Amino acid sequence: MTNLGFTHVKDVSPNLEEVQLRGWVYRIRKMKGKIFVVLRDSTGIMQCVGSVDKLSEEAWLDLNNSAIENTISVKGIPKEDNRAVNNIELHLDDYNILHRGEIFPTAKDQSKEFWLDYRHLWLRTTRATHIMKVKASVLRASREWFFENDFHETTPPIISTGAVEGGSTLFNFKYFEHDACLSQSAQLYLEALIFGLEKVYAITPSFRAEKMRTRRHINEFWHIEGEEAFVDFYENMKIQEELVSYIIHHVLDNNKYELKELKRDTSILEEIKTPFKKITYEEAINLLIEDGFTLTINDDLKTEEERHLSNKFGEPFFIELSPSHHKPFYTKEYEKDPKWVLSADLVAPEGYGEMITGGQREDILDVLVKRIKAEGFEPENYGWYLDLRRYGSAPHSGFGLGAERLTWWICGLEDIQDTCAFPRTRNRVYP
Ligand code: 4AD
Ligand code: MG
Repeated sequence: MTNLGFTHVKDVSPNLEEVQLRGWVYRIRKMKGKIFVVLRDSTGIMQCVGSVDKLSEEAWLDLNNSAIENTISVKGIPKEDNRAVNNIELHLDDYNILHRGEIFPTAKDQSKEFWLDYRHLWLRTTRATHIMKVKASVLRASREWFFENDFHETTPPIISTGAVEGGSTLFNFKYFEHDACLSQSAQLYLEALIFGLEKVYAITPSFRAEKMRTRRHINEFWHIEGEEAFVDFYENMKIQEELVSYIIHHVLDNNKYELKELKRDTSILEEIKTPFKKITYEEAINLLIEDGFTLTINDDLKTEEERHLSNKFGEPFFIELSPSHHKPFYTKEYEKDPKWVLSADLVAPEGYGEMITGGQREDILDVLVKRIKAEGFEPENYGWYLDLRRYGSAPHSGFGLGAERLTWWICGLEDIQDTCAFPRTRNRVYP
């Protein structure tokens, strides 16, 4: 692709002759007869230095009048200099302001809320760029892994009817004269697709009307979901661990620079290998009791309990066989004891917690109807889904991985919302 003679920062090295760069003013410092401008483009930052006796009058004027976030183009000779970032400094022969614009609402000491209001401008920060690149790698690696393993990408609807993950987190709305909701998970549609394609996946937005604001919940997230015919609970966990391990190693290989800039200690990520550790829900509860928590087998794990377990092992692990009353109607009852269902959560270490929920799906019609009713839903609303168990049914399993959860952990971030260009949280739908 032609770049009209322009190079990117990452491709500049001291043995090149004159190069041209385009980007934005990241920092500027003026001295007598000399001006230092740090140029930012999508690949990094580069210190440029211009002097009054070398530049044309016009170029010097532009340089002298530059301000943060002006769009600029520069021409110069790269020289080794260990005082500069990347140990290269560009000695300017030419400098142009392409767009000066208004005074940028500058970064220093602005509150987190300020930068959420100005999210469209925050996206220019190097930090945002690093995170967005890691997220792009997570999505790309997921697609690569599914493709390599013969899964078909599908595009299930986002506008839906009927809850998948419980009624309390549904965003309901009127779809012309019908009641509809935003998808919480593509799972039920993926289940329909396996009867033709056998191995399917989808990467779609999912929505949860969760009212609480935590550092690991957002109300709109990207869901990486796989579903496969003739796969049982245990094979399904194998698929998940292979996928997650592939994504992590892909990011480690391709985003070293970004992770370093984000100050991520990657030692735990580098150690990740399959198979992942597995404990049962019962074992998880017992470990927590041993560590001084008071809870029983009937309790759902609270955030701090899950975080405690997450910190306990320095590796990702599955918590398998969940109590049936914690899990949605579609989870398959464990034949040895229907108190449990064939559902598992994949928990990331370092306090990050749940990344995936997956499991085998209930394929016995009567049991499914009973479980739908037990959740307080009308089986009639799931007519098409029940049909999947009426005609040529098959054992099958699947899972859902949150793209933001995984990016959040891989980058080692404080708040999951930083993995979203425009996060949707309890108090925020703008910008
Ligand atoms: O555990 P969940 O609710 O499971 C399902 O939706 C299944 N139907 C998936 C399937 O089997 N196809 O959601 C799956 C994952 C979670 O483990 C988490 O990574 C992510 O989706 N997730 C969220 N991420 C960010 N914010 C939220 N509010 C999330 N809710 C779920
Ligand atoms: Mg879950």
